[in-house]
Amino acid sequence: MGFYYENGELVADGVKVRDIVEEVGTPVYIYSKKHFVEQFKRFSGAFKREHLVCFAVKANSNLAVINTFAKLGAGADIVSKGELFRALKAGIEPKKIVFSGVAKTEGEIEYALSNGIFMFNVESKDELYTINSVAKRVEKRVEKRAPISFRINPDVDPKTHPYISTGLKKNKFGVPYNEALELYLEAEKLDGVEIVGVQFHIGSQLLDTTPIYDASLRIAELIRELEKRGVSVSVVDVGGGVGIVYNEEEDKEPSLDEYARQVESAFEGFDVKLVFEPGRFLVGNGGILVSRVVYHKTNVNKKFMIVDAGMNDLLRPSLYNAYHKIEPVVKKGREKVVCDIVGPICETGDFFARDYEIEDVENGECIAVFSAGAYGFTMASNYNSRPKPAEVLVEDGSFRVVRKRETLDDLIRGETL
Ligand SMILES: Cc1ncc(COP(=O)(O)O)c(C=O)c1O
Repeated sequence: MGFYYENGELVADGVKVRDIVEEVGTPVYIYSKKHFVEQFKRFSGAFKREHLVCFAVKANSNLAVINTFAKLGAGADIVSKGELFRALKAGIEPKKIVFSGVAKTEGEIEYALSNGIFMFNVESKDELYTINSVAKRVEKRVEKRAPISFRINPDVDPKTHPYISTGLKKNKFGVPYNEALELYLEAEKLDGVEIVGVQFHIGSQLLDTTPIYDASLRIAELIRELEKRGVSVSVVDVGGGVGIVYNEEEDKEPSLDEYARQVESAFEGFDVKLVFEPGRFLVGNGGILVSRVVYHKTNVNKKFMIVDAGMNDLLRPSLYNAYHKIEPVVKKGREKVVCDIVGPICETGDFFARDYEIEDVENGECIAVFSAGAYGFTMASNYNSRPKPAEVLVEDGSFRVVRKRETLDDLIRGETL
């Protein structure tokens, strides 16, 4: 399943990566549909209780990828009008879409309401009132209240990278735990919204899910308090965050069974439907970024392998100092070299790996950056006026381009002199 070597050649579910590159060029993202499907089944299959898995579209928003999950019955977790548009185009049922994000605008709220989404995860009092007033304005068209959950910030440390920690009180996300009760009581009085649930998401790439359990216990306590005040919820949305193995020598995948038992036990006895918003877990290891070596150079005694993909194509190493395994597409038993693997962008931060030991791949040959299926293409930009790479999906022993490589004309679309 996914990506593996056969006689020194990197293969994606039965298709040689070299053959894809020959036809599509580099840089290119290659995805394994089989991996996506199996990860979804593993994730969903871990739970005994009724639940809904809403794929976090921000992790990988290619239509073919979202559609893969739609066909498996998934919903979507979206954070913008654009992601909602994509999710609908990809065949996700509106009734299975949850809308997260700290700054939903009136236009976005109206668009979501008129498409009849499952619920808004409200992140502040200001937003509550905006949703209420937009709902009342468009009520006649949609004839219903806006379904809401509050995103609670449980102030639990997820013990992950600070840039992807979201559940601490110093983070911008959610409403403070201690103010939640009052907000629910206030929301109850509004006639444009209907309380359906409670949501939290404490961070991403958690290799130990115990902080999610700790947060779940706090949320369960809040639900008990709400019930005492006559406010009932029918949905608990646990967010995403389950981590994946990037570095085989250091990372250990969290136990899905343990995660499922933790969450289910925290909400045992509550008559609620559980919702999950996994992103990285479903797609992270189902994608690679393939890039061609352009040049080698040595500055004094520092060696560089310069490739044709840059931080504009895959930002994670530059943004988070994230580790990605990198291997030659064809292993030839070449001598190993310790070098920085860098892109062509005019930034010192443009690197994929530093002081990295790899076979000394010749100019013109390709390398693969692994674990690039999540927060890879979705974070890509046109910085340095570089067209975005192609995306390819491997399915049933063949491959197809699911997003064409951008052209120079794509770069200036919409611009005028
Ligand atoms: C609200 C929310 N839900 C879900 C996710 C997906 O997280 P992950 O990819 O770690 O599963 C994120 C990621 O940032 C998020 O902010």
